[in-house]
Amino acid sequence: MKKSFRLLFISLVSFLFIQTSFLQKNNQKQLNNTDIERRIDSVLSLMTSEEKAGQLNQLSYGFGWGPDVILQIPTEYTDLIRSGKIGSFLNATGAKLTRELQRIAVEESRLKIPLLFGFDVIHGVKTIFPVPLAEASSWDPDLVQMSASLQAKEAASLGIHWTFAPMVDIARDPRWGRIVEGSGEDPFLGSEMAAARVKGFQGDLSSNKNIIACAKHFAAYGGAEGGRDYNTVDISERTLREIYLPPFKAAVDAGAQTIMCSFNEISGVPSSSNKFLLTDILRNEWKFNGFVVSDWNSIGELVNHGVAANLKEAAMLAINAGVDMDMESRSYVTYLSDLVKEGKVSEDRLNEAVKRILRIKFKLGLFDTPYKYCNEDAETMTVMSQEIQDAALLSAQKSIVLLKNQNGILPLKKDLKSIAIIGPLANSKKHPLGSWEQMGDSNDVITLLDGIKKAAPQAIISHVKGCTIKGKSKNDFPLAVEAAKNSDIVILALGEEGHMSGEARSRSSIELPGVQNELAVELFKIGKPIIVVLMNGRPLAINWIAENIPAIIESWFLGIKSGQAIADVIFGDVNPGGKLPVTFPRATGHIPIYYNHKNTGRPSNPLDYFTSKYLDLHLTPLFPFGYGLSYTNFSYDEIQLNKTKIKMDDTLKVSVNVKNTGNYDGEEVVQLYIQDVTASITRPVKELKGFKKIFLKKGESRDVEFIITKNELSFYDASMKWIAEPGSFKVFAGSNSADAQFKTFELD
Ligand code: BGC
Repeated sequence: MKKSFRLLFISLVSFLFIQTSFLQKNNQKQLNNTDIERRIDSVLSLMTSEEKAGQLNQLSYGFGWGPDVILQIPTEYTDLIRSGKIGSFLNATGAKLTRELQRIAVEESRLKIPLLFGFDVIHGVKTIFPVPLAEASSWDPDLVQMSASLQAKEAASLGIHWTFAPMVDIARDPRWGRIVEGSGEDPFLGSEMAAARVKGFQGDLSSNKNIIACAKHFAAYGGAEGGRDYNTVDISERTLREIYLPPFKAAVDAGAQTIMCSFNEISGVPSSSNKFLLTDILRNEWKFNGFVVSDWNSIGELVNHGVAANLKEAAMLAINAGVDMDMESRSYVTYLSDLVKEGKVSEDRLNEAVKRILRIKFKLGLFDTPYKYCNEDAETMTVMSQEIQDAALLSAQKSIVLLKNQNGILPLKKDLKSIAIIGPLANSKKHPLGSWEQMGDSNDVITLLDGIKKAAPQAIISHVKGCTIKGKSKNDFPLAVEAAKNSDIVILALGEEGHMSGEARSRSSIELPGVQNELAVELFKIGKPIIVVLMNGRPLAINWIAENIPAIIESWFLGIKSGQAIADVIFGDVNPGGKLPVTFPRATGHIPIYYNHKNTGRPSNPLDYFTSKYLDLHLTPLFPFGYGLSYTNFSYDEIQLNKTKIKMDDTLKVSVNVKNTGNYDGEEVVQLYIQDVTASITRPVKELKGFKKIFLKKGESRDVEFIITKNELSFYDASMKWIAEPGSFKVFAGSNSADAQFKTFELD
């Protein structure tokens, strides 16, 4: 009795202690916020309208970045900083350079307002990680968060405060080169990845190891007609809200401090002058309280779009729509103060934009500790540190998707006598760096050839390129054939150049470029087992390879640890567990093809001629969304529902038992989809609503559970209200979007 009393007493005291410190902490936080607002107001009250416009001006420091950058700051920039006509630079990096720029701002400008340094940390700065599309293939938000936090750490040590990432654009068209920068075609997966990246980058902003995030490009940039970058987007508000906006909302909910608006128009209104997007949705509906930055000269481009007669009018449209910071067009710094004097932009709107930017500078602690991110010792210790390189390797291993493994040809045994490593990407040090290689150095890249040599040191390895990536010459085919003939096995690395995807890099064909497919055909004729390793920034139509080559590994662009990670998979040190975040079409003419399509009034039926189809192509994808193999096998028991009828406020418990029935321990991504069978608005045949990545030892099984609420069953009705309608639903659980069993339930 006494003992339990003592225990109770101790618990009570600790509870009170925790409560008090919690309250103190909260009060302190509140005080800090109030303090920040007070300080913002006091800075603002000292600013001239020219200085205010200056805060909203962001310019690129050119492209001579890196820790060794020469400190010859152009006088144009020193003048701008001293006169308070610039609030932020992009592309200025390195502790030394950023310190000097910051010094000029806080010592030589009238109001001593610190600068904000932005940079595109898309998949690393110096330690190059897998491209975002690859990381999305991990279906592992924890991994992606960890990866972003280490990319942030490296970036922060280089003086960077702010990354223009994550890119959260949904991409349903692989011709669009920027598909490589995002998380693929699905709003649910895209939202999970968006939130993970925001949390990873931003972590604890009071430290000097995190940086602010920027969800971009707001919005529907990936909906470009024909997959051509910067092109017109014309979509319904429903598609906008259901497909393109959810990852942005997820980023905002995860605390993203900034949003970048996109280059494109939507239904006649360019994003940089789109009040509906930037104010009605972002501010009023979502309560976003950070700031909006334009894309590079996207305000200036309002003239090309044909909605502004000149740069001055462009500035007026953009600021009034809700763009707070102007990247590169110089329209704000040139015209805003006149526009305010002329009454075309309100003083309040200008102040609001300035306050949003100052608020972030305060939150980062730059007013009190302007050199917080500019420490050369920290930079030396952090850049390419072992911790960051290890993270890049883990991320590369988890990003790989095994597309085919006929007769369990993989993993290979390490005691193979001879291996031919062929293909234009087999020993490439450049292309695995992908499209935003930034300060990445190709000398740091472990190529596939390096990786295989290290993993199988006793094997005789011959390497022949066979052809270039895009060239037409077949002169080296005989050498490749010879090497293949003299080896036990062929590893053939095919794909795209690192710079064939990314910004302004759309392709009209998604076939393998050059004569690479023909090289595969020639090698196949020899009859040796072949493993194709793909390196590419978009899904490719690789029909012949998919039909004929026994093993295919999708590696995307994996960054500096590329060859090591692929060799780990090839020899079974790592059992691949990635799944495709995007559908693989069978041909370019298959585009757009995505799993969450509508049924149409005449769904495809081979027995009925007058149904939706192509005369010359199977309607099914080459590889479906969510697809990926493992060296082991997983079996799914029947799905269990705890009810067959639920009320609007009920929850439905869906569970499925998954068993590892193969010979290896491995990871499986259990995917949950729903279909609203009959509704007032046509609904997709399937929508991803949940997934769980599980690890099962060989022979082990586990019940995987999902909870479905009204929210998962809701959609935008005819008046754009988010509602759930009573009726029948199907719930699917399985290993990918095409291979999933279902049960039906009713919503009452
Ligand atoms: C791209 C953005 C990028 C910006 C700054 C633009 O051209 O569209 O994604 O963040 O440049 O580099």
